[in-house]
Amino acid sequence: MNVLLTGGTGYIGSHTAVVLLQSGYRVVLYDNLSNSSDAVLEKLAQITGQPIPFIKGDVRDTELLISTLAAHRIDAVVHFAGLKAVGESVEKPVDYYANNVQGTISLLQAMQSAQVKTLVFSSSATVYGEPQFLPLDESHPTSATNPYGRSKLHIEEMLKDVAASDPAWGIACLRYFNPVGAHESGLIGENPNGVPNNLMPYIAQVAAGQRAELSVFGADYPTADGTGVRDYIHVMDLAQGHAAALAFLSATIGWHAVNLGTGKGYSVLDMIQAVEKASGQRVPYKIVARRAGDVAACYADPKKAGEALNWRATRTLDDMCASTWRFQQSQRLSVMS
Ligand code: NAD
Ligand code: UFG
Repeated sequence: MNVLLTGGTGYIGSHTAVVLLQSGYRVVLYDNLSNSSDAVLEKLAQITGQPIPFIKGDVRDTELLISTLAAHRIDAVVHFAGLKAVGESVEKPVDYYANNVQGTISLLQAMQSAQVKTLVFSSSATVYGEPQFLPLDESHPTSATNPYGRSKLHIEEMLKDVAASDPAWGIACLRYFNPVGAHESGLIGENPNGVPNNLMPYIAQVAAGQRAELSVFGADYPTADGTGVRDYIHVMDLAQGHAAALAFLSATIGWHAVNLGTGKGYSVLDMIQAVEKASGQRVPYKIVARRAGDVAACYADPKKAGEALNWRATRTLDDMCASTWRFQQSQRLSVMS
């Protein structure tokens, strides 16, 4: 089976490429490199022992997508491509709707034209908005608190209409919780440009001495230690969730939303401690004001993924932190050499 990964050179796409190749899929990567580098292709070849076809292109280029789907005889698409920074989306909503919503419309037009009707979409737990109950299951009402989240919600709803219009479509919207960690080789991982927005890359840079201290956004939440609680999931578990979703769609039609999370929540202070343990380094921090838009706690009910996809996360918090640190160290060595 041939699978196109839009956004395939990005953080989650590159890890998923490894898992899909190792599960016997043929994989083609498609990315405009706006938030990744083609240097990852060499690393992927090192890990998997084979070169991976890559097309540099934008998902809004419908013609290029149509020719790519035909040339590589694509059977299914995993759609990672998009912008993902919540704060930036508030400042640049048009960019977010253009890349995420318009990009998905273009992809759907290309898929329709090429008669490719199996799609796995990178959605997010952000579509649940402010949690009304925990753990979050897929029946929790959806809403959006920022343009990024709204773009994901618009796309999910669009995809529901598409699936309802034609029974040939099989679509899985995978609602990721908080992906962290890296491939065990340390060759690929999350490498954000500039100051990291997310907790884990920030902590890793503090542990590595690249940043002086972490700002903990609020210690007055109604959680055990007062800091925000999230469902951190190892990116390799998440990647395996995509293989499970493709297997599910090979036997199923219609639209499906599925949480990919562990069901466990860890606080910011838990994460600091876990990285300190994995790295043997101190992570200095200071408590500052809450970050606008953050919720106290967010974690998944992963039951549906277990039942429908026969998938569950198996890696521990220690695995997440050890692999993050290994990648951090290998980055440092490659910068020095
Ligand atoms: P990433 O930025 O590392 O990967 C996204 C890739 O898409 C990048 O390589 C970028 O160059 C590419 N891209 C962006 N716009 C494009 C366009 N118009 N055409 C072609 N390529 C384009 O991000 P990631 O963390 O790997 O996230 C992948 C997907 O998962 C995104 O859709 C994101 O919204 C979603 N997601 C991520 C998280 C997270 O915390 N990382 C959580 C929930 C959902
Ligand atoms: N945090 C800090 N200091 C930092 C960064 C984060 O204390 O420097 C805290 C946050 O307040 C929060 C927790 O660490 O309590 C996690 O924050 P992240 O920014 O890493 O992750 P979020 O849960 O805010 O959001 C992430 C993605 C969203 C996605 C969501 C759910 O950024 O795109 O997970 O999947 F929608």
